[in-house]
Amino acid sequence: MCGIVGYIGKRSACDILINGLKRLEYRGYDSAGIALNCNASLTVTKRSGKVAMLETALLQDVDQQVVENSVAGIAHTRWATHGLPTVENAHPHLDNSSRIALVHNGIIENYAALRTQLQKKGSVFVSETDTEVLAHLIGSFYSGDLAVAVSEALKMVEGTYGVAVIAVDAPDEMIVARRGSPLVIGMGSGETIIASDVSAIVAHTQQVIYLQDGDVARITATGADVFTLDQCLVDRDISEIEWEIDAAEKGGFDHFMLKEIFEQPEALRNSIRGRLDKDQGFAILAGLDLTPRELASIKRVVIVACGTSMHAGMVSKYLFEGLADLPTSVEQAAEFRYCNPLVGADDLVVAVSQSGETADTLAAVRESILKGALVAGLCNVVGSTIARETGRGIYLHAGPEIGVASTKAFTAQVTVLLMMALKFGRRRRLSREAGVQICREIESIPEMVARVVEQSDAIADIAAEFADVEHAFFIGRGILYPAALEGALKLKEISYIHAEGYQAAELKHGPIALLEPATPVVALLNDIPGREKTLGNVAECRARKAPVLGVVTEGDFETAASVDRVISVPRCSAYIAPIISVVALQLLAYHIARIRGCEIDQPRNLAKSVTVE
Ligand code: F6R
Repeated sequence: MCGIVGYIGKRSACDILINGLKRLEYRGYDSAGIALNCNASLTVTKRSGKVAMLETALLQDVDQQVVENSVAGIAHTRWATHGLPTVENAHPHLDNSSRIALVHNGIIENYAALRTQLQKKGSVFVSETDTEVLAHLIGSFYSGDLAVAVSEALKMVEGTYGVAVIAVDAPDEMIVARRGSPLVIGMGSGETIIASDVSAIVAHTQQVIYLQDGDVARITATGADVFTLDQCLVDRDISEIEWEIDAAEKGGFDHFMLKEIFEQPEALRNSIRGRLDKDQGFAILAGLDLTPRELASIKRVVIVACGTSMHAGMVSKYLFEGLADLPTSVEQAAEFRYCNPLVGADDLVVAVSQSGETADTLAAVRESILKGALVAGLCNVVGSTIARETGRGIYLHAGPEIGVASTKAFTAQVTVLLMMALKFGRRRRLSREAGVQICREIESIPEMVARVVEQSDAIADIAAEFADVEHAFFIGRGILYPAALEGALKLKEISYIHAEGYQAAELKHGPIALLEPATPVVALLNDIPGREKTLGNVAECRARKAPVLGVVTEGDFETAASVDRVISVPRCSAYIAPIISVVALQLLAYHIARIRGCEIDQPRNLAKSVTVE
């Protein structure tokens, strides 16, 4: 949460920082600010609202000589934790002398105590933020060496941070540091760009250093020196960003979310490519790095995840149990980390996370490693903290997901989890023939998803009929139950319609009391085992006059006749049905939100990548 970008080099820092902020806006968008180091003074401009407001302020209210000639600066787009999204609380924050500026992502947990100590020494604070306290703390240690001042201040901090700091007296350098919040250094030619993720960097260079927790770096126009808080130099590899700038652009679509829905066939092809041995009916997932003995020793799979990723994990319970006879539990990561979880050497803990930075999932990973479990990461973002700390895992290769509502990551997660279940199943009980059949089904996923995506216009027509409702229920059973949860999550987060996902039979244990003609029920009725039972639940809903929209297998006229409106999806096996159905529900949510005039890519109160607890 929160986007940070910093620049030092020969070009206009302001342009690069504003363009970087626009690319990072999905990480937080309630206020934005910039500090430019020019002619021995810091010019700080902040606005509440989107980056566009900041851009206008820079044009109207700031000396254009500063805007054009600054060659170093830092900028921030905020997702508020401490204090309202006001100008005062927006970053950058200054130290007590106004000679040091800081942007920060994370939470300083002991900020209240530090604030009191600093006030006693004369600090006067103008905001309610934890970040301003850190700026003053750095200022209190500063006596000519900014890196030392930042390191000393950070030693006193409890909590998480990704920070970038500049000082009037040190115009040729910028200090960055991380603990718990990502920071990437882009190594350009005669310029260096730092950011909280690579989407702000990729337009300038493909060469990056991913900072690790505890790292501090002195950034200059010609490179970066990385060291510990105790000033010991450390070696960090330079990596290559795998994708090009167009992957982070809308490419003619109105919203990133729609682009990412439409991108799914290609994203899934990329997830699957090179990972199926169709002769042996096996999945090749080298990154898992499990010896046959380790594989055989696994007695249980434990999925840790949040939100949409947790829903993908819930689908995988049916896959691991159904194909590999592996008992599987799915744990909300924030619960798991604090419940003294019972995991050990016989367990494979799989952390599912698009961003690879979700604070609770990361904490669950650390707890599981501590307890001696085998831990694997299933991440989309290459080089992310969970991917690095687990050391073993599988990348989704779905390309950057910019829309705040997760879409292609879900379908890629389920596809990769299916390949994992196939791999484990073949080592345990699946025959070659069964494995070959599942390989064929996995190969067919992109094409089937493409057929759902093609129905976008038809789904938009159905969406128009439901766009005015205030409440909705989504029901499914078995492997489609998590798909119902995911459909409800998509609708509520982008359209603000109150939507609940339920196991179909559970509805009559209470929630059915809420059904009435203005409250539709979306029922997942793919032609797989369980459909007949869900149809019974549909009848109960219709008897209460709730209109039912069914997601129904093409050609299943009998089921189609049992509901009020129909979205048809291709016939597929039960293992693939959640993927196919969720794509239809993503489109339904998207079109409803569009008709309601919602800010689809930046829903209120949300941000991509939840790096705080
Ligand atoms: C919903 C959504 C969130 C994320 C959740 C976990 O559309 O995007 O629920 O799925 O915050 O994020 P990751 O997968 O990055 O760990």
